[in-house]
Amino acid sequence: MVFPTDGNVLVGLDRADDAGVYKVSDDLALIQTVDFFTPIVDDPYMFGQIAAANALSDVYAMGGIPKTAMNLVAFPVKDMDLSVLRRIIQGGIDKMTEAEVVLMGGHSIEDKELKYGLSVTGFVHPDRVLTKQDLRPGDRLVLTKPLGTGIVNTAIKAGMASAGLTETVTRLMADLNRRAAEIMARFDVSACTDVTGFGLLGHLAEMVGGSGRSARIFAAQIPVIQDALTFAGMGLIPAGAYKNREFRAAMVDMAPNVERAVQDILFDPQTSGGLLIGVRESQAEALVAELQAAGMAEAALIGEVLDDPDEKIRLV
Ligand code: CO
Ligand code: CO
Ligand code: CO
Repeated sequence: MVFPTDGNVLVGLDRADDAGVYKVSDDLALIQTVDFFTPIVDDPYMFGQIAAANALSDVYAMGGIPKTAMNLVAFPVKDMDLSVLRRIIQGGIDKMTEAEVVLMGGHSIEDKELKYGLSVTGFVHPDRVLTKQDLRPGDRLVLTKPLGTGIVNTAIKAGMASAGLTETVTRLMADLNRRAAEIMARFDVSACTDVTGFGLLGHLAEMVGGSGRSARIFAAQIPVIQDALTFAGMGLIPAGAYKNREFRAAMVDMAPNVERAVQDILFDPQTSGGLLIGVRESQAEALVAELQAAGMAEAALIGEVLDDPDEKIRLV
């Protein structure tokens, strides 16, 4: 398929990235992205927050600042009380307010299944766009949020998660990647993405493939939600994790000592996951320290970029 394009498109449909980037002038480019989904938590207000945080995240992942947004709503008017929709939209607005993003409008349709999300526009300097493509050999890889939200959501649906765990994971998904992006901007960062539906290894595979490099990942250093490990050990794995593994199996060399439950978490689809950042080796520890000091207690250095051009992920 041939997509229309022009010379100002810095990041377009010819490659997989978090958002499109269009150059307006020598010092301004627009970042555009859209994301919406069906409810992943029972609380409509928290669902609104999570959907908004998730939609804004792709702008942060590109190194930009989100500025404006539009609501996207599909709602079963005949089967659901409008107060539910009001709570969802209020959650989204409160997240946008926290992010200093202005809601400009939106569109809603009647649908059998409830869906909510945003289209988001952000700003970035054309020279400071972060894509998935520019990992340098020797860079360290840093992850800002722990993994396992897909597995915990599966446990919540099965009625097996405690109220405390449900609240913790809901908050984690609603957390903006804003502070992480602001901190990242002060470091020598080569590439970035946010960890969402393809899981950590699925998104890392895109970075490794896009950059024509390989990566070594230290399984024991990856931050995970401890209860997710327990649930994974019990076989509570979302179908998406199996799909993610199948899709990327050929790129991943798994050391035999990496536990099955850990492997499953590495492919677990995340909702509104953290940023995965490639940073200059000499600055990696300082980046992690700043992220932790800013409240991202589980931010961690999880691996390194190798010079090998065979585009593999080696898990040790
Ligand atoms: Co993304
Ligand atoms: Co997205
Ligand atoms: Co990016």
